[in-house]
Amino acid sequence: MCGIIGYCGHRPAIPLVLEGLSRLEYRGYDSAGLAFLQVSDLKIIRSEGKLCNLVEKVAKSANTFAPIGIGHTRWATHGLPVEKNAHPHKSYNGVLAIVHNGIIENFQEIKNVLLEKGYEFYSDTDTEVLANLVADELDSLLQEKYHTKFIDNAEILMHKAQEDNKEFLHCMEEAFCNALKKAHGAYAVVMLSPLIPQHIMAARLSAPLLMGIGVGEYFVASDVPAFLPYTREVIFLDDREFAIISTSSYEIKNIFSREKIEKEIHHIPWDLQGAAKDGYKHFMLKEIMEQPKVLRDCLVGRLQNKNVLLPELDNLKMPERIRIIACGTSYNAGLWSQYYLEQLGQIPVSVEIASEFRYRKPILGKNELIIVISQSGETADTLGALRLCKELGNTVLGICNVLGSSVAREADFCLYTQAGPEISVASTKAMLSQMVLLLLFAIYLGQRKNSHQEQATEIINELLRLPAVLEKTLPQLCEKAQYFAYKYAFAKSFFYLGRGVAFSLALEGALKLKELSYIHAEGYATGEMKHGPIALIDAEFPTFALLFDDEYFSKVRSGILEVKSRQGKVIALLQEGTMLENDDLWFIPKTSLPEFLALPAMQLFSYEMADYLGKDVDQPRNLAKSVTVE
Ligand code: M6R
Repeated sequence: MCGIIGYCGHRPAIPLVLEGLSRLEYRGYDSAGLAFLQVSDLKIIRSEGKLCNLVEKVAKSANTFAPIGIGHTRWATHGLPVEKNAHPHKSYNGVLAIVHNGIIENFQEIKNVLLEKGYEFYSDTDTEVLANLVADELDSLLQEKYHTKFIDNAEILMHKAQEDNKEFLHCMEEAFCNALKKAHGAYAVVMLSPLIPQHIMAARLSAPLLMGIGVGEYFVASDVPAFLPYTREVIFLDDREFAIISTSSYEIKNIFSREKIEKEIHHIPWDLQGAAKDGYKHFMLKEIMEQPKVLRDCLVGRLQNKNVLLPELDNLKMPERIRIIACGTSYNAGLWSQYYLEQLGQIPVSVEIASEFRYRKPILGKNELIIVISQSGETADTLGALRLCKELGNTVLGICNVLGSSVAREADFCLYTQAGPEISVASTKAMLSQMVLLLLFAIYLGQRKNSHQEQATEIINELLRLPAVLEKTLPQLCEKAQYFAYKYAFAKSFFYLGRGVAFSLALEGALKLKELSYIHAEGYATGEMKHGPIALIDAEFPTFALLFDDEYFSKVRSGILEVKSRQGKVIALLQEGTMLENDDLWFIPKTSLPEFLALPAMQLFSYEMADYLGKDVDQPRNLAKSVTVE
């Protein structure tokens, strides 16, 4: 949560920081702010609400050139989303400003110590505590060095800093590291100070932070799209590393040992178009419509003579059990894959919610493979689960979308999903890509065991056909989604029903509807309805039912008819060639993998519902794209 950016270079920093923040806004959007240097003055502009409010405020007050700047877009953890809590936060004496993504867990203890020393605080945030902690460390170091306490006298301090700029850079580095050593929790921080006007400092622990390496310019940010127009050369900072950036150089060191670290520069293949709306009204719609391409991209290089190629897994030992761990939509993708992994791979599979798993002292099998699924690769609970499994000695396979993310780097094996940047907070194309990869993995396990080869070949043939089928079907899905959304916009609650492979899709359909349109929705296994939930059904409580042409067809059909017999209105999504006694039928083409058409249909239904109801589709209230805090 929260997006941060820092820039040092030859371009005007203020518009660049604002532009970067606009590409990070998906990470949090309840307030925003930036800091820059005007000669030796530290200027901060902050604003409550969306980034556009900040842009307006900046336009009124900052018509200046600044070569260095930092910015932040917030998803509140400590304190209400009001201006005083927006970042950047200054130290009490104004000698530095910090933007921060994460949580400083021991902030109250640190604050108490600082309060005793006479520090004053103007916000409710942990970040302001960190800013003051750095200032306090700097104060001690300068006193030690110059045998005088001049940190409160800005004029003398600035003068001294100009005189002794190398020494001040050194002290600031030490103060920054000392403070971070005392801070527990998670952070990606960027700091700017008029005492070191050519530099910014940045560090990370359990929160994403990367550097963009340009020509005569350097960036630090939470995610690549922030600086994608300017460079695709990227360094991924690791935990406990910090960077000192100037307009002409950068250095990366370990926070604890302060030893220099040589880091590899990665080239990111994403282009700017992937991070732009491309004429669509919302990112979400664009990302749904991209799914035929995503399907194709996920298959590129993965198939040869109807065999699945996963060379990344050549050294993976055949597991006896598999445990899948994830959150939200990624969890739903994992649950969906259970059917295929067990059937094709002939391996028992369990699926767990990461936030539950990591705190219940789990007992793992010796040869149990852990699969963690995460679009962002930075979800705190999923990462916590990954680390726990590694501590317990188990092998972890990560399935994620963001190149160089923490999951990708910390897992023993990694499969990238090739969905491209997903900007809308609601996950759509990422889930589809996760499903493709998991299906390929199930076939791959079957291949290694020499089982179910015929079924695998059929699935591969269908996967190859699907991109064209989906492409052809999408216009029809858009039309129907709009029709049903308008018809059912009255609903206060919705059930989503499915059985077999459709069960996890029902969970996903309900999640999408509630997160986007704020209509209460619950996903159920169709067979569970009569064990309680059916009591809720009346003419005002509609159901979205998935009815695939599989072995459960007649049972699901009976379940739906039971709902209808209680006055329940039903939208039934079914395959051409099948029928149901119902008014609102939504047909999708016949395929042996109907999930890959039903998923976009449900995504479009939620999209249309939210848009019709006037909700903020790409940035639903209270949410953030990547949940990097617990
Ligand atoms: O990045 P991750 O896949 O780890 O994110 C997990 C969930 O936070 C995420 O899928 C969330 O549920 C979606 N935004 C829902 O659309």
